[in-house]
Amino acid sequence: MESKKISKSISFIGAGNMGGAIIQAVCRTADPGKVFITDYQQDKAEALAAKTGCRTAGSNDEAVLSGDYIFLCVKPQVMGSVLAGISPTLNTLKEKGEHKVLVSIAAGLTIDSLREKLSGACRDMPIVRIMPNMPVTIGKGMLALAAGTDVPSAALEDLKTALTEAGRVEQLSESLMDAFTVVSGCTPAFIYMFIEALADGGVMTGLTRQQALTYAAQAVMGSAAMVLETGEHPGALKDAVCSPKGSTIAGVAALEQRGFRSAAIEAVRCGFLRNVELGKD
Ligand SMILES: NC(=O)c1ccc[n+]([C@@H]2O[C@H](COP(=O)([O-])OP(=O)(O)OC[C@H]3O[C@@H](n4cnc5c(N)ncnc54)[C@H](OP(=O)(O)O)[C@@H]3O)[C@@H](O)[C@H]2O)c1
Repeated sequence: MESKKISKSISFIGAGNMGGAIIQAVCRTADPGKVFITDYQQDKAEALAAKTGCRTAGSNDEAVLSGDYIFLCVKPQVMGSVLAGISPTLNTLKEKGEHKVLVSIAAGLTIDSLREKLSGACRDMPIVRIMPNMPVTIGKGMLALAAGTDVPSAALEDLKTALTEAGRVEQLSESLMDAFTVVSGCTPAFIYMFIEALADGGVMTGLTRQQALTYAAQAVMGSAAMVLETGEHPGALKDAVCSPKGSTIAGVAALEQRGFRSAAIEAVRCGFLRNVELGKD
């Protein structure tokens, strides 16, 4: 059997949409026998365990006791009660010299704000913040990881390795997390709108809806892959496709006339401002 790259155990509190996607990715790099999951709706955890071979924990406390890395995959509004609930167990473990690392995937919650929701001696425990995006679901996500200097480098390496099957993982300064959240987390919605609109144009010009959606989505995927794989500036790639008096430059001019690039920049700027606002709630 293929040897797994992570020897530590990993627990998940919350096995919903994003938690579930990350659990499935982590079970491909870590030994599923050392992955423990729990959820308010235990049937969700059981279904995922049956699918991935990982184990269920009977409660949040049991998840804390079982994992070296404890992923917190609940909505930001319930994070306070989850952290208050597990604090006594974390404090007991700390007294015994057992070191755990908390890993939050909650949008908008800073490491400091997570720390404030803990009570007792565990408040100074290492906390890592991870921001995934929706394509994590198919292993093609973009994830950022931010951590203070108190997080051991071995733990950061383990976490990056554990997440490799979820997509591309980069470590970022926490101060850039709001900008990252919009460019990576919100962009899928912007691109879905773009693909839908391109397909509308395709239908107007004679394609079936299914043909138009497939061709537009494949063109978006291939174009994105070229940006990543060639390292070329997107402007240069665009110029290479525009021949004199050709159809592409006619379409490019139409997009420019209607403020396409300016709309995209505004979408990111408005998303960023809203994200900062949400973090203060
Ligand atoms: N979805 C995304 O695209 C995305 C992207 C980036 C970050 N995130 C972050 O990911 C986190 C989870 O989001 P999600 O979309 O996966 O939410 P979700 O589908 O609602 O999953 C959260 C799960 O946690 C369970 N839960 C709630 N309270 C609990 C508790 N006290 N103990 C144990 N389990 C509990 C929920 O059960 P109930 O349903 O019964 O409440 C639910 O099954 C959020 O913090 C979000 O900001 C999500």
